[in-house]
Amino acid sequence: MSGPVLAVDQGTSGTKALVVCPERGVLGAATAPVRPRYLPGGRVEVDPAELLGSVLDAGARALAEAGEPVVAAGLANQGETVLAWDPATGDPLTDAIVWQDRRAETICRELDAHGAELSSLTGLPLDPYFAAPKMAWIRRHLTRDGVVTTSDAWLIHRLTGAFVTDAATASRTQLLDLDTADWSPRAVGLYGLDTEKLPEVVDAAGEFGTIAAFDGPPVPLTGLLVDQQASLLAHGVTAPGAAKCTYGTGAFLLAHTGDRPRRGSSGLVSCVAWRLAGRGTDYCLDGQVYAAASAVRWLTDLGVIDGPHALDPVGATAPDSGGVTFVPALSGLAAPWWRGDARGSLTGLGLETSPGHLVHALCDGIAAQVVALAEAAGADLGAPLASLRVDGGLTRSELLMQTQADLLQLPVEVSAVPDTTALGAAAAAHLGLDAGLSVEDAVGRVGAGPAARVYEPRIDAARAEERLARFRSAVDRSS
Ligand code: G3P
Repeated sequence: MSGPVLAVDQGTSGTKALVVCPERGVLGAATAPVRPRYLPGGRVEVDPAELLGSVLDAGARALAEAGEPVVAAGLANQGETVLAWDPATGDPLTDAIVWQDRRAETICRELDAHGAELSSLTGLPLDPYFAAPKMAWIRRHLTRDGVVTTSDAWLIHRLTGAFVTDAATASRTQLLDLDTADWSPRAVGLYGLDTEKLPEVVDAAGEFGTIAAFDGPPVPLTGLLVDQQASLLAHGVTAPGAAKCTYGTGAFLLAHTGDRPRRGSSGLVSCVAWRLAGRGTDYCLDGQVYAAASAVRWLTDLGVIDGPHALDPVGATAPDSGGVTFVPALSGLAAPWWRGDARGSLTGLGLETSPGHLVHALCDGIAAQVVALAEAAGADLGAPLASLRVDGGLTRSELLMQTQADLLQLPVEVSAVPDTTALGAAAAAHLGLDAGLSVEDAVGRVGAGPAARVYEPRIDAARAEERLARFRSAVDRSS
């Protein structure tokens, strides 16, 4: 069965909903903000009611704009954000602890002796970014009641009554056995979560219940995928060799590695891309820049710029960073460094430093981290990347995208649709509706299409290396 589907991308800073028709494209679109609280001690929390409210609000408005019924819905969710909740009532028992939150560092340190075993079992290093340390922290410090899960499981329960999580989201917990794509009793035990009722690990496509919260007939939920993997799918990266980077609250570079897990040796995370009935599991390597749009928000809060739209005009007031180096490690550094203790740094400041210099330095800092991830992906794949497909709100900045192409020394292909993640959820929903559909045809139905713009490098390799070397030495000093 084909027809328009409702695709929801529940992200860190907001929820986007699209109604996407295979023949007529996007029929309705809406966004609803989410406001995480940035607290002392690296804590980041959000009210779960805001997550659910934003899904219902954006979904209802996208459907109203489309003005016609949908045949199914797909949900893409922020990964690694966790909460405890009451399965009898669906009520949250805690705030949601957001993926950027560093409070579970102590839990990770206690498991140091098992770090290598956990990493080989699950594909993930010990870091409070992942869900399991935060789940264990909730159990130790907040409540032993109810269930403790990633935010998708709670949202799905509230929307349909089901108690499930998709294999890709589960692969970001450090509780999933990467080889079987199901819960690992050993990893669950190491985190002291063996008495927990965990959600059933399901495929990215299937029949997950119906959503009755919107006007009109109940909508079957048939697609589930964690957000970065949803974007990978929508970019059509369905076989080894290509990579994508999404510039959202953080920036995430994912490279497809085929139908067997490939544990990287360059610091990238190995995880599930998607698991599909009858087709097995696809895997990917993933690298993370913890602060991308959140670093832009930080500069905005300081009054240097008045929002992401100001990156280009303010950047245009200076030719370059004027010797300023910005390591935007505002929530620590992830792959390939894995230095949760790293702090952001701004060096090379002078009385002549202007907001334009700071904007260039921020773009350099984000782009240089993505270069480190691309190099690690190339090393693990055995061949350098040939280009990078990109999406996300910050791809609207020509300065950031040109900086990325310059430092990467590769073409950067910007998606025509900034909401690629939602399109991935739509593709998964089509696969859930029609088990005979090929993955490529499902992606074709939601049409991210050819790149809207390709940025070519404008500086030579020696100049790029000089800027990267300056960034790397600043990282070495970031503690
Ligand atoms: O791993 C965190 C990621 O899922 C968050 O994505 O789009 O909210 O920055 P986003």
